Formats: sequence, C-alpha cells, structure tokens
Amino acid sequence: MSTEAEALRAALAWQVAMGADEAILPAPQPRLAAAASPAAPEAPGEGPSGRRAAAVPRSLPPAGEEAAALAAGAASLEALREAMARFTGSPLRETATQLVFSDGVAGAPVMVIGEAPGAEEDRLGKPFVGPSGQLLDRMFASIGLARGENLYITNVLPFRPPGNRTPTDAEIALFLPFVLRHVELAAPRLLVLSGGVAAKALLQARDGITRLRGRWHPVTLPSGQVMRALPTWHPAYLLRNPKAKREAWADLLLLRRELDRG
Ligand code: URA
Repeated sequence: MSTEAEALRAALAWQVAMGADEAILPAPQPRLAAAASPAAPEAPGEGPSGRRAAAVPRSLPPAGEEAAALAAGAASLEALREAMARFTGSPLRETATQLVFSDGVAGAPVMVIGEAPGAEEDRLGKPFVGPSGQLLDRMFASIGLARGENLYITNVLPFRPPGNRTPTDAEIALFLPFVLRHVELAAPRLLVLSGGVAAKALLQARDGITRLRGRWHPVTLPSGQVMRALPTWHPAYLLRNPKAKREAWADLLLLRRELDRG
C-alpha cells in the first residue's frame, strides 16, 4: 500500500475514533439556506436540491421491534449473544471492532451492568478490562466477589460508541430489550448498576446517579419478575473523583450485607 493510502487510512481511523460517524460531501452544502427558504415542491424521493434523498427503509421493521423480538426469542445466553451479533439495527456495530457481551460466571449471585465498552474492551471483546475495570475488580474483591468465581458483568451497550462518547437515549432504548433478557437468562440474585447510564436505563428514572445510588430499587423484567438493583458510582467516575470512594464503599457494604442475608 502506498504511503499516501496509509496516511489516508490512518486519518480516517483517527476520525472514527474521535466520534465522526457521518461522511460529508466533497463540496460545501448551503444547509442553513435550504432550511430557511420556503419548502419547494419536491418530486417523490428527491430532496430540495434535486438530488435523491436518502431512502428511508420504511418497509423494514423498526430496529427497536427487531431488538425486542430477537431478545425475546433467545433461550440461552449463547443464543442471546448470537442474536445480538446478528442485530443490524445500530450503526455502532459498524464503528466498533466487535461485540462485547459479558465476562464472569453466568448464574453468579451478582450481575454488574456498566455503560458501554471503551477502547480496551472493544479490542479484547470483554467488559471492564481497562483502567476502570481494574478498579472495579479491586472494589468487588474487597467484599469477596470476583469475575472468575461469583460475579457476572455486562454493559448497557454491547458496542463501543465512537470516541467513547456517552450513549444517546435512543441507543440506550434500542439495546434495553437485550439487557433485560440478559438479566433474565443470567438470573443473578442482585443487580449492581454501575454509573448513571445503567441506572437510568434499568430504573427508567429521571433522577441522576447522585440521588439514586446507595439504596435498593426494583427492576421489573419482561417476564414480570421483580429484581433488586443497587445503583452506585461508576469506577471511571471514582478514578476522577477519589473522594467519592467512601460512598462507593458504603454501597459495597450494603451489597455484602444483602448477600449475607441469604
Ligand atoms: N466502562 C463501562 O461502563 N464498561 C466497560 O466495559 C468499560 C468501561
């Protein structure tokens, strides 16, 4: 490959990593002028400039319905992983390296749900293996839980958002059926919601993590089963705000007490 091609490929990879997920046309377009001018009569299938507008795939089922159907049809964790790998309803799949499904022991008493894979997770295909994952492991080890023994870990999003941006509400809603089915199939006794995104997704709450953390909340699964979930600080937040570790420790003790209650 020529040096120029290599340089172009490297520049493109950098843009994808920084969060660019849309290509632009070679010439600048007067988008603001088009939006401000009165709507011109359009031929079917054409935009205001006379170019063909992007086709809206109306005949396809909405991605959310497809996600719900795939999730409901998965009868095992392996089937769920395969269904998620087959699911084409999210552009995140195109920019991520691979699906990040889970790590740890399926059937463990505690299931941790984080936000989304980061760069390391995307590379290795496992959740929480970067710096915040190392802290997470130390935190849970302090109350006798380890992913090799009695802990199961996943994320709300199975694909890394470009540039590690925060997942959008639409992305969270799209993947929620998979997460809820994942909980049903992994069947933990207790859930730990690591950070605001997981808490917001699973609790359908308006409050932020500051108000939600530190107490048990009910989560109703599609089967009707109600499970208890403990929101707590995300380890990435703790790395930036070590003072919050005291509260995270209190949350871990709450979890330990609940497990010991049997
Ligand atoms: N942060 C998360 O929420 N999940 C991961 O897997 C890694 C970092």
